[in-house]
Amino acid sequence: MEPIKLNFDQTFNFFPEQEYTKQLEPASKKLKSLHDKTGAGNDFLGWLNLPSATKDNQINEIIAAANELSNEVNVIVVIGIGGSYLGAKAVIEACNHTFDQLLSKRKVPLILFAGQNLSQDYLSDLLEVIDDKNYGIVVISKSGTTTEPALAFRILKKHLESKIGKKLACKRIVAITDEKKGALKQLANEEGYKTFVIPDDVGGRFSVLTPVGLFPIALAGISINNLIEGARFMEKITGLDIAPEKNPAIQYSIIRNLLYRHGRKIEIFVNYNPKLRFLAKWWKQLYGESEGKEGKGIYPSSVDFTTDLHSMGQYIQEGERTMFETVVSITKSHKQLSIPHDKTNLDKLNYLAGKSLDEVNNMAKIGTMLAHVDGGVPNIHIEIPSLNEFYLGQLIYLFEKACPVSGYLIGVNPFNQPGVEAYKKNMFALLGKPGFEEESVRLRNKIKLS
Ligand code: PA5
Repeated sequence: MEPIKLNFDQTFNFFPEQEYTKQLEPASKKLKSLHDKTGAGNDFLGWLNLPSATKDNQINEIIAAANELSNEVNVIVVIGIGGSYLGAKAVIEACNHTFDQLLSKRKVPLILFAGQNLSQDYLSDLLEVIDDKNYGIVVISKSGTTTEPALAFRILKKHLESKIGKKLACKRIVAITDEKKGALKQLANEEGYKTFVIPDDVGGRFSVLTPVGLFPIALAGISINNLIEGARFMEKITGLDIAPEKNPAIQYSIIRNLLYRHGRKIEIFVNYNPKLRFLAKWWKQLYGESEGKEGKGIYPSSVDFTTDLHSMGQYIQEGERTMFETVVSITKSHKQLSIPHDKTNLDKLNYLAGKSLDEVNNMAKIGTMLAHVDGGVPNIHIEIPSLNEFYLGQLIYLFEKACPVSGYLIGVNPFNQPGVEAYKKNMFALLGKPGFEEESVRLRNKIKLS
């Protein structure tokens, strides 16, 4: 078992080197305050020891429930938004066949997602494709009142009940929500749905290693045992007993903070494999929602390379020098593919004949990193030996652990998200929710809406 590799060499020219050493002590103190639960947001630290605290019987219960539901259906619709969907989606996309939806022979149900937007076309299209399918629903909401998933669930529940009858539908619905409170919990009790609990002290964006992520991931036939094993491994090597200069969570949080202080306001998560696209989205929520407050925080963004080198490459190479990149690459693909020799060589690519696409992708990566660093874009490099559950578990826990250390260094409470309420308040007022009458008048006057 080896750790994922972090390399910061291509950042050190962008701030005075002694600053890194100076930050080791303050960052260690932030890590300590996380472990001691003395920092801001300390009632949301349930995720910190989650990998080591998760018992085999809890994992087995999740796997057993997933197998039971999987045996009954061919499609599962997972309903959730933000932290209640991105982690599962990220791991499923990373581990599944790239064209999973087109596979003709399936061993596990096809996982589809809903409740992560308010698009009428999206949900209508979904209803259209599942209408003749044998499907189940996993509804995930900690609060149980989030508008997007609650609306999607209302519509899908009705569809399922009218398709197979209420009694059977209740057996095909699993709810993942708060242990005691919330509308979803109440409904689950009334209807007798199988439920899993989202611990009180784990916020949405830190919940992928709770049933929120684990249940849908297990439904997709992916090893949650190995995922947790990877997270446990990273939990150990980011512990308080590890020297700060060897602790990857401390290293990553210091480097990104130093870059931020030296004018790098944007961090771009770069992948060279489209299977990591949703991991980037999960990471964006984790860092964006944790750090972006009080007028502070690094703006997390992402690109898919080499695809986006043909769209965003120009800007990254020569645009405003306000960004740095965090490149997450995979050393070895699961499958082999080599470039054939061609007699005519019209495309002049015979010099690559016999090489694997991995070799070409790797040289594209190294070439791009060097070009971007030369162009003034610092590069952090994280390399995982291969894309599997164990290394994903490591990566997930590393990002979770480094995030609040980094947030504390920036000087914010990484565990709240007060800003998310602003759009909701306006939306409720504009939709005429009782209790928002005054706000409704004010907003409608503002945009001259009758
Ligand atoms: O990180 C968060 O807290 C949010 O992204 C929530 O996960 C998201 O808003 C969904 O909330 P809920 O699970 O209560 O429906």
